[in-house]
Amino acid sequence: MHSARRLEYLQAIGIDVWVPRPGTAAAALMPASNALPAVEPPAVEPSVVATPAPEAPAIATPVGAAPAESEELEEQWEPLRAEVLGCTKCSLHTTRTQGVFGVGNRRADWLVIGEAPGAEEDQQGEPFVGRAGQLLNQMLRAIGLQRESVFIANVLKCRPPNNRDPKPDEVAACMPYLMRQIALLRPRLILAVGRIAAQNLLATDVSLARLRGQVHTFGELNTPLIVTYHPAYLLRTPADKRKAWEDLKFARTVFRRLASQES
Ligand code: URA
Ligand code: SF4
Repeated sequence: MHSARRLEYLQAIGIDVWVPRPGTAAAALMPASNALPAVEPPAVEPSVVATPAPEAPAIATPVGAAPAESEELEEQWEPLRAEVLGCTKCSLHTTRTQGVFGVGNRRADWLVIGEAPGAEEDQQGEPFVGRAGQLLNQMLRAIGLQRESVFIANVLKCRPPNNRDPKPDEVAACMPYLMRQIALLRPRLILAVGRIAAQNLLATDVSLARLRGQVHTFGELNTPLIVTYHPAYLLRTPADKRKAWEDLKFARTVFRRLASQES
């Protein structure tokens, strides 16, 4: 079966799928748009491809926390947010327009962690709202996740000038906020996007290429953590979108396995 769905998902994350029309020589020569080489769709287990149903809130609300407990947790979000927005713990506070706390479902199973706000995020106060954010949304959608159903945050809450790499002292100053966010969220899975997030979260300088394709763990809760490429990198290097798609499918498979074990 040529799954229309599969094509849709591949296209959603920007993988150009070249479908030759039988018998046309033009088809054989036709370059894929976007200067991507013609990509044969990754071999995917049909069952996996067919499923990310629109009604997939298999990935929505955990049933775990008792109401009292969850109310208590809920009350801790606002003080944390206020603390971040007023934070002066590192010098980035002098150049930011505003802090970018994070956004999404506070009962999310998935936590996506990026590097730091860029120009648009600094202006709007929300993570991943620029071009990279659009691609991130498409990447999530490709595995059946709505942006609104996950939680999205960054390692750094304030924009480094000219989007330079975070400095170790900035990461050290800011990381406790992320740890507190994770303690409140208790996500089932962390998706670290990009080398900077991955290396800082895993306290390693191993390359992203070598960190992919494994389930790492993060923090006191040993939250499973999976690594993939940063959407901004994928915008510059579209040939690696295919590898990102493999990572996303891997993350989805791991999530499903965890969810079926735990609930
Ligand atoms: N890149 C990131 O890592 N985070 C954002 O919020 C935006 C771009
Ligand atoms: Fe505070 Fe983090 Fe912003 Fe630095 S980057 S000022 S530690 S919130």
